Amino acid sequence: MAELNNKVAIITGAASGIGKAIASSFLQEGSNVLVADQSKERLTRMATVEMASYPGRILTCVADMTKEDEIELMISQALNQFGKVDILVNNAGIMDHFEPVAELNNLRWEQVIKVNLEGPMKAMRSVCRIFLQQKSGTIVNIASVGGLFGTRAGAAYTASKHGLIGLTKNTGYYYAKDGIRCNAIAPGAVPTNILEDFDMERLPEKTKERIMGGTQTNPRFGAPEEIAAVAVFLASDKSSFVNGSVVTVDGGWTAY
Ligand SMILES: NC(=O)c1ccc[n+]([C@@H]2O[C@H](COP(=O)([O-])OP(=O)(O)OC[C@H]3O[C@@H](n4cnc5c(N)ncnc54)[C@H](O)[C@@H]3O)[C@@H](O)[C@H]2O)c1
Repeated sequence: MAELNNKVAIITGAASGIGKAIASSFLQEGSNVLVADQSKERLTRMATVEMASYPGRILTCVADMTKEDEIELMISQALNQFGKVDILVNNAGIMDHFEPVAELNNLRWEQVIKVNLEGPMKAMRSVCRIFLQQKSGTIVNIASVGGLFGTRAGAAYTASKHGLIGLTKNTGYYYAKDGIRCNAIAPGAVPTNILEDFDMERLPEKTKERIMGGTQTNPRFGAPEEIAAVAVFLASDKSSFVNGSVVTVDGGWTAY
């Protein structure tokens, strides 16, 4: 029996990496999915070629998570096309360049906070209004182990993911009696496109020593599908008693 039969999900940042794997898993579990991203080309390929034959219906939406009107359009498009929204997966995210606070410029801070925290908050605000009327709905926020510990990334990324986890707990508890659940996943290291424009070799020696030193304790890299499996569980009714939680999915890295 498919875990997400007849559900309607919105997945942001769905054209690459973890978001793409979540979209694929949700569709295979019978969910109808609106996949949103900035990349029209990659979304179209997913919908017309790669995932066209999956059991769930796929709808694409070009949306920038830093733009409130595009977030609102994304949600109303899902509602109009599918008639309801059951699941929001806030997955779109960007890395910083591992800057500690003294080296952080305003632009980097603003970009990272906008994509990783402010966009998810706006999408949550909008779907929660729908969920309150429906008296049901589930949110899965893709945070990071950088949202639980201090030095898995730079100051901006770390702050944004800590903020997302706080938002997750507040929302999960506040609406617990309204049929709404809100959880986060804290993935460890997963090879995706998130650092594609960044050359790790060019990091200053001090950053390598302070931040990258901890990578030696990581037992292994994960696959996007290993994060998606947990997202399916959190989005499904099987996790009905899981709320306001952060599920760490890191192969044991932070257990060290
Ligand atoms: N890869 C990892 O090691 C890792 C670890 C922990 C957490 N995460 C989190 O997982 C999530 C997915 O990252 P990924 O590793 O799959 O990266 P990725 O770069 O492969 O995918 C991210 C997607 O988000 C989209 N995106 C970026 N900015 C956007 C915006 N403003 N509006 C809409 N879409 C936007 C990109 O176009 C891309 O398709 C992120 O939130 C990231 O912080 C990743």
